Order: sequence, then structure tokens, then C-alpha cells
Amino acid sequence: MSTAEFVVVANRLPVDRGADGEFKHSPGGLVAALEPVMKRTDGAWVGWAGQPDLTLDPFEFDGMLLVPVALSADDVELYYEGMSNDTFWPLYHDVISPPRYRRLWWETYVEVNRRFAEAAASVVSEGGTVWVQDYQLQLVPKMLRELRPDLTIGYFHHIPFPAYGLYSQLPWRKQVLEGLMGADVIGFQRVADAGNFTRSIRRLFHYETRASGIRIPQEDGSTRVALAKAFPISIDVDAYVELARRPEVQARAAEIRESLGNPKRILLGVDRLDYTKGIRHRLKAFGELLHDERVNVEDVTLVQVASPSRERVEAYMQLRDEIELTVGRINGDFDTMGHTAIRYLHQGYPREEMVALYLAADVMLVTALRDGMNLVAKEYVASRIDNRGVLVLSEFAGAADELGMALRVNPHDIGSLKDTIERAITMPGAEQGRRMRSLRRRVIENDVDAWSRSFLDALARVRADSRAQGTR
Ligand code: G6P
Repeated sequence: MSTAEFVVVANRLPVDRGADGEFKHSPGGLVAALEPVMKRTDGAWVGWAGQPDLTLDPFEFDGMLLVPVALSADDVELYYEGMSNDTFWPLYHDVISPPRYRRLWWETYVEVNRRFAEAAASVVSEGGTVWVQDYQLQLVPKMLRELRPDLTIGYFHHIPFPAYGLYSQLPWRKQVLEGLMGADVIGFQRVADAGNFTRSIRRLFHYETRASGIRIPQEDGSTRVALAKAFPISIDVDAYVELARRPEVQARAAEIRESLGNPKRILLGVDRLDYTKGIRHRLKAFGELLHDERVNVEDVTLVQVASPSRERVEAYMQLRDEIELTVGRINGDFDTMGHTAIRYLHQGYPREEMVALYLAADVMLVTALRDGMNLVAKEYVASRIDNRGVLVLSEFAGAADELGMALRVNPHDIGSLKDTIERAITMPGAEQGRRMRSLRRRVIENDVDAWSRSFLDALARVRADSRAQGTR
């Protein structure tokens, strides 16, 4: 097999396999974030093709070498649905849903992480760079360093890292930190996430941390310094701007408004159907606004796109039932023949359709209870080339650190969420323009290219330092 100097390792490959066996680009946030970097570097991508029991040889796709890692049906259940999405996901999102700690899940997680590490080790060239992505693969950095001490290893954590008081629940808390410390640079979304991580290191290992550096004692008595720092992720802004400018996308936005009965205001929520996203809080606030007659169904419609996600995990099944019950009740109470309160769509859409929706929406509601970044907030801002529209943004989403001109909200405070939605609905055009222009400046300056460059620059500096010290 050919080797690559730059290798990304992620749970998922950046492609989906259709029923016909053909591969096409998958629309996920992580994929959108990394694909530009991959194309620039002629790299390889190690990941799972998304279906159980599928063994595939490495293949070329759109200028990248894709290296599939096979997962059995048991692996999917224990490593992906279990340990990744029923333990780490809820624990790292402040236990919004109770995490479950199962020893068999953990054993499979270790095993599968080893498989990813071995696949990466087999494809990366001597002295190359590997960039490991996200919480499904936290043990890979250490495993990879043991297999291939010649490599430079980065890790980026796309989701929050919790406070020590919560993290310490994890029965395998030391092993996971050791796994992550195998990387030269450990990237987080927010400064607070990096702080939580280094605090856990100090509590459990008593290692010295200075500025962003963690001093890790080595077996031979020397010290290796790993960097733990915030690198807030972003989106491919140009791609969204380009779509928003297309006449057919703008025509589609008008068509969407028309098909909803041309309400005065369209509110929009776009999320994976996940309990971290605060969809229930959003529906509660909107239902109460209708009930209080502070908004009228003839004037205001909420479009809620909730894309199917992790559908075999119990907490997600329950959430779907609750949301669909609530939507049904609100619509039953308030719909008229010509207007609906909530247009609920349990579907995923291509990017063009999403941009048309962003253009059609006067108010974007991001009410996450906890979210690493929330790229939807940035997609909305990037798409608003008319400098209009209002972003309501939860302070618990990473995006809140950068997007100060959004209307910030604590989604747990339903009273103030209602007030904020009403303020967004009635905001004068001049204020919308002032806020949106400032938001757009931030998003345009810090696009996904800037993100990956700053991470990879930090990684290159660590590599140069360790070469200078003769440790690599
Ligand atoms: C989040 C995670 C990603 C994950 C994505 C979709 O954004 O940070 O790692 O790929 O959700 O979830 P899924 O379980 O479908 O991969």
C-alpha cells in the first residue's frame, strides 16, 4: 500500500456508501471541516465506512486515500453505540443524560482504538504526521506513539471536556488521559475545555502544567511537553457564501417561505436529534409564546429540522418520542388550515437545501444545553449575505465564545428564552444589520482553513522543537 505523510484518523470516513455500493461525500460537520486540509496535503484518511461487517481495501476518492477500518455488528454496539455514545457523549456533555459505565463496552473500545491505531501506523510514512479526531478515538494517540515513535501526533476533541467533578466519575479516567497525552498537541474547542483537561491531569497525575504545556515525565528520565490548547473549529465559509449567492438557492428560499404560507417571520432550528441540543426547551418556549398570544400562528412558523442520529441508543429513541409528542400537541393546539406552528422534519438535507433554509429564516435558534462548538450557528451567519437575520445562541455552545453579537441565552431559563425569541422576532432591520455584519466578520476571519492551519502550525512547532532537542 502507498503511504502518506499526513493522515487523518476519525471514526467515520468522509464518504457514505449508498445502497448501490457507490461512495459519495457524506455531509457531516467534521468531514466538511477536514476535507479542504486533506485535499491540500494529498493525505490519507483512516475511518469506518459506516456499515457493520464491511471489509474494504483502501481506495482513492476525490484526491484522498481512504483506508477503511472494519467494525463488526458487536463493535458497533459496544464501541460506537455503547462506550462512545452512551458513556463518553453524555458524560462529556455534563451528564444531561446519565452515562452508563459498562466494562465490556470499555474492553471493546480499547480493542477498536487499537485497530484504528494499527491502520494509521500502516499507512503513514516515516516521520509523518497523524491527526486523530474526537472522543471515539481517545486512546489512539498513545497507542500510535508506542507503535511509531517517529510520528508527530495531533488530537482534536470536537466535543466539550467536562469539569473534573464530572470527569472523575469515569472508571477509566486515568487510561483515557494517558491515551490523550500520547499526542503532541491536544486541541479543544474552548479555553474552558482545555482548562478542564489540564486540571484533570494535575489532579490525577500531578504533572506540572505551565501556560498550555503539560510536562510529561518519560521512562528514560527525560520530559516531553504536550500542548493542550483551544483551537475553535469553523466552517468552509466560501462554500456557504457561494451557495447563498446562487439565484436558484435564493429562489428555493422564496419557495420555502411561500410553501409555509408566507408567514411574517420564520424561526429555524437545525440539529441532529440529540438531547444536548435543547430542542425540548426551544419547543417549550415557542409553545408558551403561542399560548400566551405573544406570537400568532398566522405570523410566525418554527421550522425544526431534526436529522436522525444514533437511532439504536435508548436515550435517542426516548428523546424522539418526547419531541414528536410535543410537536404534535403544539400543532394540534395552534395550527389553522393555512398555517402550521411547527414544521417538523426528521430528515437530513443536502447543503444547498440547508442554505436555502438559512436564507428563508428570519431567526435561527441554537439552544444547546451543551455543545462543543455548534457549526450550524456559523453556517447561518455565513449564509446571510444580505446582513439580515437574528441568531439566538446558547451560552453553552462553544460558538458563544466568538459570536458575541448574537442574542445570548440560557436555554434552561424558559422565561428569558421566550423574551429573547420575541426580541429576535421584533428586532428592527438596522439592529439586525449591525449585529449580523459583526458576526459575519468573525466567521469570515476564522474559517475552517484558519482553524486547521493554526492547529497544524502548532503541531509543526512541536515537531521542530523535539527535532532540535534530538528527541525525534
Ligand atoms: C458530533 C461528533 C462527531 C460525530 C457527529 C455525528 O459532531 O463530534 O464526532 O461524527 O457528531 O455523529 P455520529 O455518531 O453519527 O458520527
